[in-house]
Amino acid sequence: MIFLLALFSFCFAESFSLTICSFNIRNFGEAKIAKADVVAVVVKIVSRCDVALLMEIKDNKDKAVHLLMQQLNSQPEMKDDFSLIISERLGRNSYKEQYAFIYRKHRVSVKDAYQYPDAHPGDVDAFSREPFVVWFKSPHTEVKEFIIVPQHTTPEAAVREIDKLYDVYLDVRQKWKSENFIFMGDFNAGCSYVPKKHWKNIRLRTDPEFVWLIGDGSDTTVKGSTKCAYDRIVVHGQKIQQSVVPGSATVFNFMEEFGLNETQALEVSDHFPVEIQLKKSKGFMDKVKSFFRKIKGKRSSE
Ligand SMILES: *[C@@H]1O[C@H](CO)[C@@H](O)[C@H](O)[C@H]1NC(C)=O
Repeated sequence: MIFLLALFSFCFAESFSLTICSFNIRNFGEAKIAKADVVAVVVKIVSRCDVALLMEIKDNKDKAVHLLMQQLNSQPEMKDDFSLIISERLGRNSYKEQYAFIYRKHRVSVKDAYQYPDAHPGDVDAFSREPFVVWFKSPHTEVKEFIIVPQHTTPEAAVREIDKLYDVYLDVRQKWKSENFIFMGDFNAGCSYVPKKHWKNIRLRTDPEFVWLIGDGSDTTVKGSTKCAYDRIVVHGQKIQQSVVPGSATVFNFMEEFGLNETQALEVSDHFPVEIQLKKSKGFMDKVKSFFRKIKGKRSSE
């Protein structure tokens, strides 16, 4: 009996809450993937996440992300668990970036993906890097599906581009008939790029249905000399709002966590990731609880 209990507590001890991260991985391409010490840190950062959005992938040979995937999937404890969905190379001129989502396929799957066409009537080409929107199925969490809208704004156009995410919301909601949205990315939503007086021009901010989980006072920059809340996570939809683990929205200071100095950390990125956790399924926990209740009942009757 004790053995059974131990076995079950072992099996169910693993948390199924889902960690969702957003990381501007600064200029990720050939040069960066060639640095083993940097890649080792990136692997550790991404491995903490069940869904990781990576931005600022700049790689015209389309190799770096695949090499990163190989490293992620060769970790014995997470063998072949990571999948990738990646956008086209996006940008108005020869400067291009890609959005990538790396996700643990035992936890989530991709239901659909949609490259926002950025052709809103009267406002064509609002974004430098139009969102590559991904709809995830998440059977192990309380909320069973959610849509992630990624965005890396152009700093000088940050106010305008964050505001335009509202149009993306209207478009995607219409298309997929779903209300559970996570907007996230390097919005450049701080310091000189979004002055306080401009928040009123940002619908994603003024509409109270959108909840900003990473506050204006956060610091998502690695440099000790700057303090800006550039990277953000915003959720929309009652179900997903209720599914966020209270207090889980944080900036992941990998410099401190991994004991790096500033020079070493800046080799990885000038941004820290931001993250939230979604609550595990109620149904699942209820089953576990009732199982233990049964065992307890049996034991006391023995
Ligand atoms: C950071 O750490 C590296 C490796 O230990 C070292 O070579 C470098 O001098 C350190 N830099 C600073 C600014 O402390």
